[in-house]
Order: sequence, then structure tokens, then C-alpha cells
Amino acid sequence: MVAIDRSTRKLVDMDAGTVSREIFCNQDIYDQEMQQVFLRSWLFVGHESQIPKPGDFMLSRMGEESVIVTRDKQNQVQVLLNSCRHRGNLVCRYDQGNATVFTCSFHGWSYDSTGALVALPYHDGGYNDMVKQDWGLAQARVETFQGSIWATWDRAAPSFVDYLGGAEVYLRTQVLGTDGSDNGAEVLGGVVKWRLGCNWKVPCPDVDRTHGWITHKSLNDAFGVGPTGFPVRRGQGGQRAYAGPPRSFCVAFPEGHTMGVTLPSEDDANWGDAGVWADKPIIREYLREKYEIRKRRLGKMASLSVGPAIFPNEGWLGRVIRIMHPQGPLMTEIWTYFFVDKDAPQEVKDELAFYYERWYGPGGMTQQDDMENWYNLTIASKGPMARTLDLNYQMRLSESPIHGPSKFGLPGLFTPIYSDENHRRFYRRWAEFMEAKDWDELRVREPAK
Ligand code: FES
Ligand SMILES: [Fe+2]
Repeated sequence: MVAIDRSTRKLVDMDAGTVSREIFCNQDIYDQEMQQVFLRSWLFVGHESQIPKPGDFMLSRMGEESVIVTRDKQNQVQVLLNSCRHRGNLVCRYDQGNATVFTCSFHGWSYDSTGALVALPYHDGGYNDMVKQDWGLAQARVETFQGSIWATWDRAAPSFVDYLGGAEVYLRTQVLGTDGSDNGAEVLGGVVKWRLGCNWKVPCPDVDRTHGWITHKSLNDAFGVGPTGFPVRRGQGGQRAYAGPPRSFCVAFPEGHTMGVTLPSEDDANWGDAGVWADKPIIREYLREKYEIRKRRLGKMASLSVGPAIFPNEGWLGRVIRIMHPQGPLMTEIWTYFFVDKDAPQEVKDELAFYYERWYGPGGMTQQDDMENWYNLTIASKGPMARTLDLNYQMRLSESPIHGPSKFGLPGLFTPIYSDENHRRFYRRWAEFMEAKDWDELRVREPAK
């Protein structure tokens, strides 16, 4: 373990509401968080719809490391470290496919889809003394949640739902079908992947509602257009939340999960981004019809609107998941998965694909604005002088969050939407992971559910 000169408590000072820039650029801190955070957390690695049949596989990441996500002959999802036990070569080099055996390209050691070592070509009896069961691929703990696949290397970690600490209520709304059906969503097409010169934590914690009015100003004011040509950006988000009694909040969990939540209501204001599709009757009618079914299934909760970011590196934008994979202290590989209803007509899926391409990803209208700032703040923060100056997370520092279960009947700690509380919760939890020896020390004493 790398020793850090400054204690993490000083690197992340949540009483003062400050965070040291070192945690976004220091190699020693980065090496430590790969062990302390990424070896012990539950990490999103994909969705079951990407590997529907036995033998289907895809490559994913856990922290910096490549993993094979595959479905074995028993239909169980397996997550295997993509590193040969012989001399460490990548065992699988295809992004996706179907295979019952993964054969290493160096000396041909072969593993089945549970990771077991099943063949040692040309060894000529030379491995007769080797206990082959001990030399399979490393196998992660796996849990699925409404089709989404999560994995951890830590056998002592709590179950995935315990890890969520109540955030499952919000995560669930994202992965249901629009009609509220279980396992109703699928990943549309491939995964969009791009590299950006910033630390993985920069795009992570949700919510940062004070950036939109200026970061996305050209989009809102100059273009004034939404993805279908309809002017939907103007007046959305935080501005809309403050037009009446506050319904949108920052919601955080002591477990480090953060999100923006718009409370469910009896009116239909939130249904399926209705305004976006005003000039696309096919989508509008499809969503309207599915939303009616959703209301019957979920009642008032049908209109709960949320974008949960699950600690450490997962986050939602609408019905899009972004995963921030660390690739060194100053490099992040962002993987974006687009979700649609699996039983939606092809026409609807095609329209949604077009919508997603225009909004999200490296060429998307909103993401490229954000990327510009994330990159520039990295350049402007990594120098020796800049590193001496802490970053400010003091908005609403002295306000106590509202306990969601007692006030709203919903889990989480609620603060007004213009607040740094979600960021503070994220960095507090990060510091706890960096300091804790094991999961006993990481157990949350006062769950917000
Ligand atoms: S490194 Fe894989 S078989 Fe030798
Ligand atoms: Fe943004």
C-alpha cells in the first residue's frame, strides 16, 4: 500500500467543504484508490441483454482492468479477469462474441466460460503435478439487478442491494421498461467509448445543477433546440424546479450514491420526456401508451424522475448509463450504454438511437460542452502552484439535509437542487474507502432508508 503524506481527512475536508486537487492528479493517490475503492466496490459491467445466449461474451472493465462478462452453459453470468494465469497475456481480445472456450494466443492455455482451465496444449505431460483447479481465471462476485450486471472482487462486500443502501428504489426506475415491466429494458447497439484527459472522479458525482446555465448556454440560448428540433432545453432543469414549490432535490446516501430526484406527482408532467417528442407522433404515442400501463403498475411512483449515480463510477443521464473507467490519474475512458424498451417497435428504437447520438457521447450536443471544461480544469489544476489551492464545495455547507423517509416516504438525504451536498457525500465516502481496512469499517451506521 502506498503511503500518502497528507492524511485523506485533509485531502477531503467535509467540515470545511474543501477537496485537495491532489486527489485528481497524484499518482500515489491514484494507485491507492485502485486498491481501496475499485477492488472493494460493486461495479457496473454491463447488461444481460448484451449476452442473451449461453456462450455470449463481451469485454468490460473493473477499474483499469479488463474483464470478460459471459454467460456460461448453466445460463449464469460470469465475470472473469481477462488475464491468463500462465504469463499474464490477455485471454480474450474481441469486444464481443460467442465462445465456449477462451484460448490464450501466447501458449494456448484454454479456459471455459466459468474461468476453469480446461486445456494445456503441447505440455507433453509436463504439468502432471499441477493442480489445474488452482489456475483458472480470477472470478468476480456477480449480482444482477433488473438485468444490469454488477461485480466486485471483494468476497466480504455486502450484497449489492445492501451496498445500495436504499438507492435501489431509484436505480430500479431506470432499468424497468417504460411500462414499468421487470427486465423491460435492453442496451441499444454497442457501447460508445471515448478517452478524455481528466481524472475519473471529475465527471462522477451527481448533481451539478449550477453549471448548465453557462456550460450549455450556447445550446440553450443560441440553438434553443432539442434533439428532435423542438425547443425543449429552455426553462428546463433547476429553473423549472423553482417555478413552484420545490419538487427537485439533490439526494445522497451515506454509501456515496448521489442523484437528482424530482418527486413523483399525480399530474403527468414527467411522463417519458413528453415535450421532447412533440413533433414525433410515433414516439409520443408509444410513450403515452406505455406510460398509462406504467401508472397502473406503479401508481404515483410512475412519475418518479431520477438519475442515480452509484458509487464509485456509474452515472445516468436520462436513460443512458455512463461508466467512468480510470486509466491513470489524468485519463478516463467513458463508456456509454443507451437503453430502450426491448419490445419497442424498430421505428421507435431508430428514433431513440438518433436522439441519443445527438445528445450524448463524444459528439453529443451536451457532452462535448462538459468535456471541454473537464479537460481544461485538469490542465489548470495539475501544476505545482495550483495543487496548493483546495477546491470549493461549500454551497449549503451549514444546512442539514432532510431525512427522505420521514419527510417524503422516499430513501436518501434531500437538499435543495442547488447544493454541493451530493459532491460532499461522494468525497466523504471516497475518503472512507481510502482509509478503511476492510468492509467492517465501511459499514454505514445510519442508513438513509
Ligand atoms: S500467457 Fe497465456 S498461455 Fe502463456
Ligand atoms: Fe453538463
